[in-house]
Amino acid sequence: MTPLQKMGTNKTKKSYPWFLPSFTLPQGKTAKLFEQLIALKTKGKNEGGDELLALISWFLGDPSLRQMNYFITPESDVIKLIHEWLLFLTSSKAPPKQMTLAAAPVANATVGLLATLMAYDVAGGEVITTSLNYPAMPNVILMAGATPHFVDVNKDDFCMNMDSLAKAINEKTKAIILVHLNQFVDLEPLDRLLRKLKRDIPVIQDASVAFGSKRSNIPLGIFNIGTNGTTIFSFATTKTITSLGGGMIMANSQELINHIAAIAFHGLDLSKAMDVSTVGSNFRINDLNVPLLREQLKKADRLFSLRRKLQEVYRKALQPLVDDGLMQLQTLHEEAVVGHYAVLVPKRDQVGKTLFGKEGIQLGCWPAHHHLPFYQQRCPTPFGGTLSTTDAIADQFAFLPFSTDLTPQDVRFICKALYNALRQLT
Ligand SMILES: Cc1ncc(COP(=O)(O)O)c(C=O)c1O
Repeated sequence: MTPLQKMGTNKTKKSYPWFLPSFTLPQGKTAKLFEQLIALKTKGKNEGGDELLALISWFLGDPSLRQMNYFITPESDVIKLIHEWLLFLTSSKAPPKQMTLAAAPVANATVGLLATLMAYDVAGGEVITTSLNYPAMPNVILMAGATPHFVDVNKDDFCMNMDSLAKAINEKTKAIILVHLNQFVDLEPLDRLLRKLKRDIPVIQDASVAFGSKRSNIPLGIFNIGTNGTTIFSFATTKTITSLGGGMIMANSQELINHIAAIAFHGLDLSKAMDVSTVGSNFRINDLNVPLLREQLKKADRLFSLRRKLQEVYRKALQPLVDDGLMQLQTLHEEAVVGHYAVLVPKRDQVGKTLFGKEGIQLGCWPAHHHLPFYQQRCPTPFGGTLSTTDAIADQFAFLPFSTDLTPQDVRFICKALYNALRQLT
């Protein structure tokens, strides 16, 4: 049976889902063309276009399986996605047998963070995170009814500084959000610190810009800190794999994941039909992200290895600039897969203007949130001077262009342009 026959032109098998999306299905020549494309791909006679074909197949798929794309039937696309996701994570290193591994897809990492903070019931308390961070972080903390408590980063890898964290933890601390910036941060010191303090504070590991990174061949997401630790992934367009949006939350507790999944779906406890178990909203993954993500997962390892090669090209091409004292690179763990290539560039804003004006090369950056008046009014001290590394590097912190579309020649061109700009301006 062809996909189109399956879709409804088939007279023998009829299904009556309780609703169908009001799409006009492809007809006539368009329908034939799609069928030919799928047939060519299936026979291995067509390169590329995988994600587009995954989407077309989704449109042409069996409507009774496609309706209400959520935690409903074992055949639903989301359930298949969760299964494939867990299989992917455990393919290189299986977790210990007694360990639960559970996942819930969400609309994006930002609402995933919010839903997780809501599950932790952080309202009225403090959530610790680094000041030099993606703008989602303080916002989701405030939206969850808590106060961000900013801490410092390390000089070399720009990730959370454990001494600063140790000083920040207090009786109001309800959660910690640790960003794995371009690599799998060593979790031992944090684990040790919490054990020493005898505090089971839930830790959210934000792996949005590090998916693919490992430590001792263990991928992110498998080990979560404490009883209710979680790891969050993003599949936005800028990430190491993308489904043009979407996110994933992982935990070692099915109960916690069910709670977060309920928050992400209007508070509904799906195991009990229409019972509401918590306050929630619509944070669930977009239907069209699902086939895209399943397709990207198939090529994730290839995309990670392309990124690792580009990281190396960057490192080599930038080494002379580092040797000349013109800039600093982020220290990367050997199993890192970089999401955003982070560096320190003196006179970053001027250099960025020159690069963009002359060569169309754009620099990215994150703010130091404790420098922004909006957060200064809402967040506790310490401010000014106590986050000394963040204060010292905030106006130099930059992301260089980084994507699997770049060739080694592109990278060398960018590095040369950066060298010229730095020489001219510093
Ligand atoms: C560290 C970090 N966390 C969260 C996010 C938010 O991801 P999303 O766009 O999926 O909400 C980003 C986006 O770049 C990020 O860099």
